[in-house]
Order: sequence, then structure tokens, then C-alpha cells
Amino acid sequence: MENLDQMVAQAQTDFAAAADAAALEQAKARYLGKSGSVTAELKSLGKLDPDARREAGARINQAKGRIEQALEARRSALKEAQLATQLAAEALDVTLPARGAGQGGLHPVSRTLERIEALFRSIGFEVADGPEIEADFQNFTALNTPEDHPARSMHDTFYLQDESGGVAPGVLLRTHTSPIQVRYMQAHVALHAGAETMPEIRVIAPGRVYRVDSDATHSPMFHQVEGLWVGQNVSFADLKGVIADFLRRFFESDDLQVRFRPSFFPFTEPSAEIDMAFMSGALKGRWLEIAGCGMVHPNVLRQVGIDAEKYLGFAFGMGPDRLTMLRYGINDLRLFYDGDLRFLRQFA
Ligand code: FA5
Ligand code: MG
Repeated sequence: MENLDQMVAQAQTDFAAAADAAALEQAKARYLGKSGSVTAELKSLGKLDPDARREAGARINQAKGRIEQALEARRSALKEAQLATQLAAEALDVTLPARGAGQGGLHPVSRTLERIEALFRSIGFEVADGPEIEADFQNFTALNTPEDHPARSMHDTFYLQDESGGVAPGVLLRTHTSPIQVRYMQAHVALHAGAETMPEIRVIAPGRVYRVDSDATHSPMFHQVEGLWVGQNVSFADLKGVIADFLRRFFESDDLQVRFRPSFFPFTEPSAEIDMAFMSGALKGRWLEIAGCGMVHPNVLRQVGIDAEKYLGFAFGMGPDRLTMLRYGINDLRLFYDGDLRFLRQFA
């Protein structure tokens, strides 16, 4: 009897001392295993006479029950402790402040385009758009540039392939935004067909254009902003006034070095190119061409069905990438398209 109570007490102590499931199983074996002490007690029953056996058997079974109970209790205590440790290790601190969404910034050329649009809207210009994959007709022919005209080779053109890998006839990546002049005038004429007097056209058209061209001031993909003003009383003086006023407002300075240089475009007559000098940076004082311009050629007006005796206009096509270079004193256009965030973050 005393012997059994001692055994139960010892088992409870051993189980409590087991630090993990493996140690607990070893301790269990010492009591309930094949050669464990409880098993030995049960085996010894065989030597007793029936009455004593019944009585001793009951006591041993009771002791065995208490040991099994202690084992179960320790098992669940260990399991709970292990769960608690795991939960503590994998805890998420939901009260930590969030990392915050990364903040993007506008590309410097996008900023320039937004500024140009705002400034031209403020003097009553609309903003139009056109396709980047353009028809040869709108890009060249309708702009008074016949098939064999040398002006076509002034624009090194990306042509598109057809399914067999040959050059798709009549389709190209637009080399300038001037085809939007053609599309816009055609739509305007259709809209006001039959009217005694056609309302004025005042529009700019920003967009990407493409040429086989690459150096510090030429990128194979670049931007242009086309401008067009057609009416009954539009002069070259208006063109100069609009451009000069735009540049003063764009650069926020009255003290700009700008010059109009006589030039040639098949779709304007007379024609000029506009140069501007860097105001700051390593290139200070150096001239950079920023636009082509001129009075719309009568052949272009006739081509879209506008009476060239009654209406005239001016057009320009400027390079916002170059305006951005001038504004920030950047000496290589390609930096805008390298995608280097260290460069781009300076403008965000
Ligand atoms: C033209 O593309 C004419 N369509 C402009 C025009 C429109 C004239 C309307 C008359 C009437 P040009 O090839 O010069 O012209 O280009 C115009 C401007 O685009 C240039 O002055 C320059 O600022 C910019 N530009 C031209 N090529 C590149 C290039 N590869 N990379 C960056 N900017 C360029
Ligand atoms: Mg030019």
C-alpha cells in the first residue's frame, strides 16, 4: 500500500520534471512500459491466492489510473506550453504603423507637356490627339511632300512590317505631329461643311514621334507639340507673338535668347526654325533648336478642302524634350529615357 502510494508520488514528480514530450514518454515507460514498475506489480499478482489477488489487483489498478491521469495532465500541459511558445514567436504586431504607399512623381517631360497644355489652353487653344501608327498619306503626302520629295529623307522613318516580314505599304511610325494638322483640319471642315464662314482653328497636339536618330540632342522616340491657328487674319507676326509669349511664360523670364532662323518645310511657306540658348548649366549660351514653324502652305489647305484664298494660318512643331533640357540645364536628352531613378527623382 505504502509502496504503491510512493510509486504514484514518484511518477507525478518524474512527469512534472519532463521538459518535453520525448522526456515524458521515457518517464512513462518506467511505470507503464513492458518492464515498468506498474507492469511488474501486476505480474506479481499471479503468486497470490485468489482473495489477496482480487484485493491487491484493485489497489494496483487504482494506482495505475492515478499515474495515467498524471501522464495525461502533463501531456496537455506540455502541448499548451508549446502552442504558447509558437504563438509568441509568430506574433504579428498589428499596431505597428504601416509602411505607406511609395509615392511616384511625374516625369520631367510629362511636367513640361502639362505646362504647355495649360499655357495654350489659357489663350484659347484646344488640345487634340492623333495615332502614333500613321498613314504615309497624312504623315507626308497631304503635307505637300510628294513620293520622291527630298524632305522625306530628312526624316529617317521607321516603317512597319507586314505579316510576311516585308515593309507594310503606306504605314509608318509618325515622324512628327504634323499629320494631326491634316486630321484635325479634315474633321473641322466636315463639321462646318456648308457654313458661310468656317470658325477659326486654334489647336495644339502633343504626342510621341519616332525617327531613326540617336545622340545627345536626338532620341529615336521623342515628343512634339504641334500648333495650328487657321483663320481669315492670321499673320507671321501672330506666330512670332504667340511663340514669344509662350516661351516667356514657360520659362518665367522676359530675358530669353530666342531667334527665328529661315528654314524649309514642304508644308509651310515661309518657314523658320526657332532656336533658344541655354540660360544656365554647363551649356549656358549654347543654341538649341526647339521648333520648326511657318505659314501653312496653300497646297496643304487645299488638300483638306479649305479655301486658300480666304483662309490662312500658321503652324509650328516644337520639341518639349528639348524645352525640358533648357529649363533644367540638362545636357543629354537620353537621360530622360534611361529610366534611372536617381536622375528622375530630382524632378519629382
Ligand atoms: C518638324 O518635325 C516639323 N513637323 C515642324 C513643323 C511643324 C514645321 C509645323 C512647320 C510647321 P523638325 O524635324 O525640325 O520639324 O522637328 C521639330 C522639333 O522637334 C525640333 O526643332 C526639335 O526641337 C524636335 N526634335 C526633332 N528631332 C528630334 C529628336 N530626334 N529628338 C528630340 N527632339 C527632336
Ligand atoms: Mg528642325
